[in-house]
Amino acid sequence: MKREIHIVGNWKMNQTMHEISNFFVEMSKMKMELKCKAWIAPQALHIPILKEIAFTTGSIQVGAQNCCEQDAGAFTGEISPLALADMGVEFVIIGHSERRTIYKESNELLNKKVLKALSHGLKVIYCVGETLEEREADLTLKVLAEQMSLGLKNLPEDKAANLLIAYEPVWAIGTGKTATAEQAEEAHAFIRSQLTTHAERTVILYGGSVKPDNIDSLLVKENIDGALVGGASLKAQDFRALCGSASVIRK
Ligand code: 13P
Repeated sequence: MKREIHIVGNWKMNQTMHEISNFFVEMSKMKMELKCKAWIAPQALHIPILKEIAFTTGSIQVGAQNCCEQDAGAFTGEISPLALADMGVEFVIIGHSERRTIYKESNELLNKKVLKALSHGLKVIYCVGETLEEREADLTLKVLAEQMSLGLKNLPEDKAANLLIAYEPVWAIGTGKTATAEQAEEAHAFIRSQLTTHAERTVILYGGSVKPDNIDSLLVKENIDGALVGGASLKAQDFRALCGSASVIRK
């Protein structure tokens, strides 16, 4: 089953207007035909600006890093999934470990967000992953199974094509410690086995200290269909190099 490789930049709460403009100037200097999906999730505030640039360059799709489980109303500071869809945003990341840990988002809340975003036609990157303590206590697969079953409860079959999963071991995020390709592949194969519909076609990304010098060893694995990248996606040269690696891999 063919799955397209995706390189997704999660810019988190970074980048000024000046840095964004430099990023795209640098990107445009590096001539290369992209043969993978290149997505970027900037801060919500910058989505319209990136949409405009993406429209002109035609190569990058733009998404959000989070959204509310409600469409509209008295939810000060939240990001409406309805508004995201209305603005032509392509995807939304849901359940990033920073949302789970810092903002205490539960699997039950994330499930509501996933279903709501999918109902508006947004693609969803649903993130799962274990902490170091959980891995050391041999709880990785149990945690992943729980995050998958609770977070994706009642997933409508006709929306499954819009779902992507990101496996991000919490201990590998921003630490410079990447999971080995074997550890990642084991988790990805398990995650695929937990999908009740569309399993063979679902794109599963790896995230956690992905860099141009370690991406190749990850992408050759059967069940790793791309990367969700933090730090390295902020630099045009690195982002382009990651897309370059992804462009030569075929699944
Ligand atoms: P780093 O690539 O900086 O480790 O971040 C990974 C991540 O959290 C992407 O969502």
